[in-house]
Amino acid sequence: MRNLDQHTITEAVLARQAQTPDPRLKQIMDLLVRHLHAFAREAQLTEAEWFQGIDFLTRCGHITDERRQEFILLSDVLGLSMLTVAQNNDKPAGCTEATVVGPFHVQHAPRYPLGADISNGAHGVPCVVRGTVRGIDGEPVPQAELDVWQSDEDGLYDVQHAGITHAQARGVLTADVAGHFHFRSILAVPYAIPHDGPVGQLLESMGRHPWRPAHLHFMIKAPGYETLITHVFRSDDAYLGSDAVFGVRHSLIADWKQQPDGSYLVEYDFVLNPVAPS
Ligand code: BEZ
Ligand code: FE
Repeated sequence: MRNLDQHTITEAVLARQAQTPDPRLKQIMDLLVRHLHAFAREAQLTEAEWFQGIDFLTRCGHITDERRQEFILLSDVLGLSMLTVAQNNDKPAGCTEATVVGPFHVQHAPRYPLGADISNGAHGVPCVVRGTVRGIDGEPVPQAELDVWQSDEDGLYDVQHAGITHAQARGVLTADVAGHFHFRSILAVPYAIPHDGPVGQLLESMGRHPWRPAHLHFMIKAPGYETLITHVFRSDDAYLGSDAVFGVRHSLIADWKQQPDGSYLVEYDFVLNPVAPS
């Protein structure tokens, strides 16, 4: 078809990609084209607005490198990351809920023995973290691997500090045979997601703030169980109701209790979902 207009172009594009050999790719591309075209029609998108969108994505590309991922940040603030997590982690009642991984997880963080101080020099108020990893029937999960990461008291992860090349406030621990774990770190504080780039400008232009409520990240792995990627949030945080990336789940909020010496203690038990039998 050569004489396409605004009413016929969608079907023409779908026809052009009809031979896509991979059925899943075809399904996704067909839906993408339908929804993108419907969006442009419903918004009555102007050419200037189309170019503004292209320019925005170009700036996201330019600021992205191995330390900064602006496209994931965009997905996060649009709620797409959390929607994808939620629809792929529909676990039985009683299992710990999953939430966004975020951009600051690092592969192969240092391993620590139980009880160690994983802050490794990061600044913050001392905090002890302890709990148990269990399965859905209450059985302890022996030797579960807990990969933990958090920001320092300035709200920055080690990888965001230009001068820091060693791991701070992150580490991997192995629970004992009864699934118990404990370690020392620092108090989690609320922090702003990176907002000095196009995503930050977008938030500002929409009157949205870039803050996340204080949290500690966990990735927990054990044979026979689904990997759990989640956070534990502080119950006293002002941003629990307005997390910039929509990651809060009520069941993930815990009381972080101040101790007589000024340090903090947080206790949280995780419940893993068994891998479905194949
Ligand atoms: C985080 O919790 O580390 C995070 C999640 C999404 C965007 C930015 C940071
Ligand atoms: Fe975080």
